[in-house]
Amino acid sequence: MRIAFDNAKCQGHGRCYSLSPSLFESDDEGFAVLKIDGEVPPDLEDDAILAADNCPEYAIEIQLT
Ligand code: F3S
Repeated sequence: MRIAFDNAKCQGHGRCYSLSPSLFESDDEGFAVLKIDGEVPPDLEDDAILAADNCPEYAIEIQLT
């Protein structure tokens, strides 16, 4: 599983780093920063899905590999 994060779509809603802090963090302005290179460790797959499902801007896409 990979995460494709489109930071151009991020509006800073903050749900991703609140729900999945192991995968996302906030920059100084509240926009999301993906903490991994894209490949999701197996134990974080549920967190990745949670973040993707809760981003209202659809900035986080899950890609099954
Ligand atoms: Fe941005 Fe969506 Fe997270 S708008 S801060 S990627 S919940």
